[in-house]
Formats: sequence, C-alpha cells, structure tokens
Amino acid sequence: DLPPHVRIHEVGARDGLQNEKATVPTEVKAEFIHRLADAGLTTIEATSFVHPKWVPQLADAEALFPLLDDLSGTKGVHLPVLVPNARGLDRALALGARHVAVFASATESFAKANLNRTVDEALAMFEPVVARAKEAESAHDQVHVRGYLSMCFGDPWEGAVPIAQVVRVCKALIDMGCDELSLGDTIGVATPGHVLELLAALNEQGVPTHRVGVHFHDTYGQALTNTLAALQHGVTTVDASAGGLGGCPFARSATGNLATEDLVWMLQGLGIETGVDLGRLTATSVWMADQLGRPSPSRTVRALSHK
Ligand code: HMG
Ligand code: MG
Repeated sequence: DLPPHVRIHEVGARDGLQNEKATVPTEVKAEFIHRLADAGLTTIEATSFVHPKWVPQLADAEALFPLLDDLSGTKGVHLPVLVPNARGLDRALALGARHVAVFASATESFAKANLNRTVDEALAMFEPVVARAKEAESAHDQVHVRGYLSMCFGDPWEGAVPIAQVVRVCKALIDMGCDELSLGDTIGVATPGHVLELLAALNEQGVPTHRVGVHFHDTYGQALTNTLAALQHGVTTVDASAGGLGGCPFARSATGNLATEDLVWMLQGLGIETGVDLGRLTATSVWMADQLGRPSPSRTVRALSHK
C-alpha cells in the first residue's frame, strides 16, 4: 500500500548550497526559497546556524532568515534551520525560527569530520538544545525538532554500518525529544532491502514509522528505488533537493541529493499528492543552475527543460 500524500522536505537551499564552491549571494538564496514556495513546497530548509568557518556558504544566515518572514508568516511555510549546539539555537531563536534540526552521525568517523565530536559527545551537545526547544509550556509554543542521522547505510571511511549502531543513535535522538528523524544515506550506497531492514529494526525498537523521514542521495542511482521501498513501508516524509543540488562537504563521494523533480515525477505517476507544481519547480531549478553556472544533474529537469 502506498500513502495518498507525501510531505516533501526540501533541502536544496541548505544541503544543496552548503556544498557549492561558489558562495551564492543572499538575495539569490532568498529568491530561490521564495520560488520554491511558489512551486508549492511547504517545508523548505533555509540555512544552518553553524560555525561560519565550517560552512562559509551559509555564513549569511542572519541576513537571509529575515528576508523569509513573509513565508513563515501569512503563507505558513515551515523553514527549518540546522543548529548543532546552544550557540546555534540562540542564533535561530533570536530570529524567530520555529523549526530546527540537530544532526547526528551513525559513525564515529563522520561525527568527527562533521562535528569535531565523538558520536556520544555530539548527542550530549544536542540534548540541552532539544530540551530547550521543547521547553515551552504548551505544545503549540514548542519549537519543532528534527533529528538528522547521517551515514545510516554506509560510511566513506568505515564501510558498511551495522543496523544496531544506527538504531542506537535513532533511539537516543527520539528519547531526547526529537519530533522526527531523517535517515540519511549520505554517500548514496543504500539499496531497497537495506532500507526496509532498517525501518523494520526501528519499528521493533519502538520507533514508529510516522516519526521517520528518509534522505537519500543518488550517487549510485538508487535514490528513487529506495524512496519507493520506504513509501511501501509507510514512510510519508521524503527529503529532496531542487535540481539535485548538493552533497556534503565533510564526506568525500557524497554527491547528489535526490532531485525534488525526479521525486515529484515518480509520485505524480503513482497518483501520490505533494502539492508541488512540477513546471514551476523545474523553471526554478533551471534558473538556479544558471545562477551557479552549471546544468542541473536532475534527469527530470533536463527532460522537461529540453522539450
Ligand atoms: P568546534 O570547533 O568544536 O566548536 O566546532 P567549539 O564548540 O569548540 O567552539 C569554537 C568556536 O566556535 C567558539 O568561538 C564558538 O563560539 C564558536 P570562540 O569562542 O573560539 O570565538 N561556535 C559557533 N559560532 C557560530 N555558530 C555556532 C557556533 N558554535 C560554536 N553554532 C561545531 C563544533 C559543531 C560548531 C562545528 O563542528 C560546526 O559548526 N559543524 C557544522 C558542520 C555542518 O554544518 N555540516 C553540514 C551539515 S550535516 C549534513 O550535511 C548531513 C545531512 O545533510 C544529511 C545527509 O545529507 O546525509 C544533514
Ligand atoms: Mg543530503
């Protein structure tokens, strides 16, 4: 059985642009995000409140976020931002962010490369961040927290990642109060059987599927088939990046997030509702590719823009 509706968590402006060599001007980022909203996306990850030396591409978070006030206001678009620590949460809350994400790793090598911490030290860093986000008295005033988990299927330094190791960190994120998880195949090595095995293991350990989103990379051409497997298991939140922008600057061989257009093409064909206008989205990615000076790697963008 497939779900009637999928919520797309658009990561192009964050996961995509963090990986661009060129720094994109703040106004171009703001226009990109507005165009994504006009195309019907309702969850658009905007930026990261991380150390500017670690991710210089997103060092303009303070300048960018206020330019998006109209979207989070009347239009009700969710604009999640990444916050690794208390300092990041302070910066995000000061600008009125209502959706934040911490980002853990299933492997020690990537925890070190991405966060300068062991896996457990990173979890200890997130705990007070999540606690503070969830502190408000009424559920309505709480900040929504997503817990990313990278390297769920394979790691460039460590190879295959044992399911139990992934489940342990997922449980820790849920137990500290994260509202949802995003299972990242950061280097794109997963195949559908592996995806189903992890989802089943999470269910067995008490993590329900409705709290789980998937974040696939298309490095080995498996992102869509992995997504379909996850949908068949009951997952309804899928991360994707407009035009297939991005990878990850801290993991070699991490190319290409699943392109939002490729995802929407498949979901449309399956009769699954997303609210996204594929024509407008494709036009946005063509425009962005122009800004970046190179063509979009998305097959769907290429096919639709060469008609
Ligand atoms: P650190 O060097 O260990 O930091 O970095 P620290 O805690 O020792 O602090 C050092 C200095 O940084 C201090 O300043 C802090 O104030 C400052 P000083 O006192 O020396 O002047 N600092 C900050 N400044 C601004 N904003 C902050 C902040 N925090 C500390 N938030 C840290 C630790 C976590 C900060 C660093 O490693 C970092 O910023 N990492 C972020 C890396 C990142 O953004 N990676 C990409 C996202 S994850 C990803 O892409 C995968 C994902 O997309 C899923 C997938 O694709 O599979 C999610
Ligand atoms: Mg990614």
